Amino acid sequence: MNLLLLGGTAWLGHAVAKAAIGEGHDVTCLARGSAPAPEGARFVRADRDADDALHEVSEERWDAVVDLASEPGRVRRAVRALEPVAAKYVFVSSCSAYASHATIGADESTELLPALEADAMASMEQYGEAKAACEQAVRHAFGERRAAIVRPGLIGGPGDPTGRTSYWVRRFAAPSNEEAQVLAPDTPELPTAIIDVRDLADFIVALAAGSATGAFNALGDAHPLPAHLDSARAAAGSPAEIVAAPEAWLQDREVAQWMGPRSLPLWIAARDWYGMNARSTERARAAGLTLRPLGETLTDSLRHELEHGIPNPHGAGLTDAEERELLADFANAKW
Ligand SMILES: NC(=O)c1ccc[n+]([C@@H]2O[C@H](COP(=O)([O-])OP(=O)(O)OC[C@H]3O[C@@H](n4cnc5c(N)ncnc54)[C@H](OP(=O)(O)O)[C@@H]3O)[C@@H](O)[C@H]2O)c1
Repeated sequence: MNLLLLGGTAWLGHAVAKAAIGEGHDVTCLARGSAPAPEGARFVRADRDADDALHEVSEERWDAVVDLASEPGRVRRAVRALEPVAAKYVFVSSCSAYASHATIGADESTELLPALEADAMASMEQYGEAKAACEQAVRHAFGERRAAIVRPGLIGGPGDPTGRTSYWVRRFAAPSNEEAQVLAPDTPELPTAIIDVRDLADFIVALAAGSATGAFNALGDAHPLPAHLDSARAAAGSPAEIVAAPEAWLQDREVAQWMGPRSLPLWIAARDWYGMNARSTERARAAGLTLRPLGETLTDSLRHELEHGIPNPHGAGLTDAEERELLADFANAKW
């Protein structure tokens, strides 16, 4: 297949390019070049905010295009330029495009957020609406028979630039305190799911090369948070003890949820968001999505961080000092 990848220099795009090259496809990556594209890919340097950005690649024929953008203007420009020369368009959207995250097991027919009219997001708060607008542009240009939309859930695995999906395995591997205690939220039923970047990349290549079209949720297997913590502890080979703190206690101490500084990653307090990480992946599995075990993803993530360093050391989770202070506070609390 002659594959045009709009992206390819960042984490997932790089993995998609590598997977496609590994399968013997001809891969061209188009990006500004903030980082190198994988060896074996042809690279076209272009800024997609420029009107003529797609000029060079619109003079060739493509079996498939894979687009990783989130700004509607970039996707609107790309589908206009590439519809005449590309057989199929695979757009990497997000589960954030859904209007509701309340239902466990919801499938792809769930309503999307209203599409962003503007070409660019005013802030990341508009990410879901922007992805919905990108999807709309792709469907409109390529029609149901030539468009495939992938809606990933949380992506993890070696090299996660956010550091959030590797927080728990990293925490178990290097506890902040001599007692080897790990502070976690007490959320026995919170669904978590991490799709390994390599599994997602393989699936995107399979969609580009195959005939399946329509929308596909692409999430890892759902595990309640305590099961994720058990897998992380096992992957780290750690004897650490989990100290499960009530959510209200954590919120009173301004511990953030999901990601970011002073957070407990993967934690979601709102019960009407419990469906976010527990969507149906039946369509994707039927179209070829296969998932490695969570333990393998966590083991490989930890190994990668030991070899290459933590990509975003203060970007996700509690620092050692923060965790120690919270654990001491918790031990002194009168329950
Ligand atoms: N992480 C998650 O958990 C998660 C969950 C759901 C969905 N997603 C989606 O998964 C995808 C992740 O992709 P990714 O890891 O490859 O990272 P990304 O940062 O979203 O990729 C952006 C790519 O687009 C290129 N780009 C950015 N601005 C450009 C411009 N003006 N002109 C041309 N190219 C431009 C970048 O390369 P240059 O900088 O070199 O131009 C890079 O290769 C995204 O679509 C994201 O929305 C992520």
